[in-house]
Amino acid sequence: MPGQTILVVDDEERQREIYRDILQDEGYDTETTASGESALRLLGQKRFDLVLTDLNLTGMTGIELLSGILAADPTVAVVLITGYPSIQSAIEATKKGVYQYLEKPVDRDRLLEVVREVFERLEALKQTIIGDSPATKAMVRMILKVASTAHTVLILGESGTGKELVARGIHSHSPRGDRPFLAVNCAALTETLLESELFGHEKGAFTDAHQQKKGLFERANHSTLFLDEIGDTSLAMQAKILRVLQEREMLRVGGTVPIKVDVRIIAATNKNLEQLLKEGKFREDLYYRLKVIPIVCPPLRERREDVEELALHFVRKAATAAGREVEGITPEALEALRAYSWPGNIRQLEWAMERAVVLGESEWVEPRDLPPEILQPAPAASATQAGTQPNTGHGFGPVVPEGSWEEHEKAKILEALQRSNWNITRAAQLLGMTFRTLQYRLEKFGIKRP
Ligand SMILES: Nc1ncnc2c1ncn2[C@@H]1O[C@H](COP(=O)(O)OP(=O)(O)OP(=O)(O)O)[C@@H](O)[C@H]1O
Ligand SMILES: [Mg+2]
Repeated sequence: MPGQTILVVDDEERQREIYRDILQDEGYDTETTASGESALRLLGQKRFDLVLTDLNLTGMTGIELLSGILAADPTVAVVLITGYPSIQSAIEATKKGVYQYLEKPVDRDRLLEVVREVFERLEALKQTIIGDSPATKAMVRMILKVASTAHTVLILGESGTGKELVARGIHSHSPRGDRPFLAVNCAALTETLLESELFGHEKGAFTDAHQQKKGLFERANHSTLFLDEIGDTSLAMQAKILRVLQEREMLRVGGTVPIKVDVRIIAATNKNLEQLLKEGKFREDLYYRLKVIPIVCPPLRERREDVEELALHFVRKAATAAGREVEGITPEALEALRAYSWPGNIRQLEWAMERAVVLGESEWVEPRDLPPEILQPAPAASATQAGTQPNTGHGFGPVVPEGSWEEHEKAKILEALQRSNWNITRAAQLLGMTFRTLQYRLEKFGIKRP
């Protein structure tokens, strides 16, 4: 593939040449070097997309090289070639985040297959997490870095910043990626329902428990469970979740026999957990357990460089869905998009672009196709915009008064409900939300069928 760069590291000159010839024939821009030390030097000077290295090198080992590369830039993919496949080193390398292994003797087809697969995976991630800003690139790097481990991850960010997208990205790039990603919105269920959803129940555990039911922790065994809006759980629920994280086992409601579970937990919240800690609404022990690996999704107003690429992406997507030809976005419209403060973040931008594509009549998205609040930002919104707050890491209070966006969201939900004749499942589909999220929003806004 043109444009993709590969660095081959092997202390045997003959081997380096063989790999280089195969890769170059295929169109990869390939360089070679004899040691881990020289590889790291080269990586400091030039960007390589993939490093293909022998495990046993003179001097620094392939594993040490891998660690060095990941520390400097986890977006560089590493493929290890090993002559003596040992389970121990394989486990060690997988934990550290190696992409793939190749066993010697390496034949041409296998080498090309593995390299192609690695590039396909990287490409897939780039196409789901759009944006070229330093903040978004850092997010992608973190995703790749933590994906290979089984560590608990805590994703923090305002509403609509891509927390769920990140969670899915981590799962699909992890060794668990072939299994289903299970998710629950902790804010959308009552305490009892959430407990039964997470832990399942034994037959007869309560009046309606006619049958035994497996909970999400059990169903997500060997896979990933996404606990969305964890900041909205009660202290009692937090204690139960913490227990599973610590003991790696759980009890069904009404059950007495502990069940072992191997579940990777990814939690997310738009709440300021440190504030909740102070108020005694979030358990400190659970907080520290979760925040071992925090990933912050910054608000869109702090990564304005991404607005254009995201907007174009959403316009193309909406145009395809609507069967319309749209060339792009006019410079005037783009300017308005870049200047706006986006209290609803990327989701709000996505909806604005869908609306523009559906309402627009020309082949270009023009300012008149944009929602009014984007063209005339409320004074409060532009004030925040001028004094853009630095990202404090965990401080996700309502940074921007949400007034106009909430109105917009409400209008969007009402429109979907009317179009679906108040069929919640269908309306949720139209809005691209899960049924539960929509239910939660209906409650939050107090929307009832007239
Ligand atoms: N970097 C991105 N590239 C492309 N699409 C994105 C990006 N970030 C977010 N999106 C899209 O924006 C929408 C909102 O993202 P997501 O649902 O992940 O946000 P969230 O932080 O979980 O929001 P909430 O707190 O409201 O649940 C989704 O449709 C998602 O696909
Ligand atoms: Mg979400």
